[in-house]
Amino acid sequence: MSSLETAKKIAARKAVDNHVSNGNIVGVGSGSTIVYAVERLSERVKQENLDVVCVPTSFQARQLILSNKLKLSDLDTHPEIDVTIDGADEVDSNLNLIKGGGGCLLQEKIVASCSKSMVVIADYTKNSQCLGEQYKKGIPIEVSPLGYVPIKNKIEKKYGGSVSLRMAVKKAGPVITDNGNFILDWVDYKSTFDWPNVNLDIIQIPGVVETGLFIGIASKAYFGMSDGSVKEQI
Ligand code: 5RP
Repeated sequence: MSSLETAKKIAARKAVDNHVSNGNIVGVGSGSTIVYAVERLSERVKQENLDVVCVPTSFQARQLILSNKLKLSDLDTHPEIDVTIDGADEVDSNLNLIKGGGGCLLQEKIVASCSKSMVVIADYTKNSQCLGEQYKKGIPIEVSPLGYVPIKNKIEKKYGGSVSLRMAVKKAGPVITDNGNFILDWVDYKSTFDWPNVNLDIIQIPGVVETGLFIGIASKAYFGMSDGSVKEQI
């Protein structure tokens, strides 16, 4: 296993061991790191006979819960979640996040907002001081297909940088989210922006469904490090 995969795995396992207990309703994030967390959760459910119910943040997370034979629920049945464990594309020194590299930001933010705590699991490459330092693929913004061109123009005009429509592999067409929307990726912005205000401003543009800026939502992060240790950030 590469050092990056090992880093994801040790962060994920530690977060599950420290934050999930019997009777919990658990929000299950999306991406590659969460795979290790769900595997660990499944191990613990079998070994400790834990009663845990999982609420997914995406179609991928739903499939992961089912394939690991964990109890699947939703926000209609369980609108209050004890802990959500999720990956991130970048985590700054204030625990603000960029998420949505996998296009699941809307459901991820809804589930996180219903949770008593959101715990982030990531490898060492995701750790930064200021948002934008590390993750160069851009800030994901989920938008209604109808408005993607005016939204792109408004963001570029007001904040600079470049906003592009996320395309599927081999440019077969735009990526469509689990909610039937498009994703815009915003690159070359200033990493010194006042992110809480920029986030609120962008969300108010008609047609913007959600941003991948998770401001003040996460309560703790676990980073798997290249030396095999796990760094905790609160
Ligand atoms: C998906 C996400 C993921 O959590 C984020 O992209 C991190 O993924 P990975 O664990 O594969 O690095 O936000 O929308």
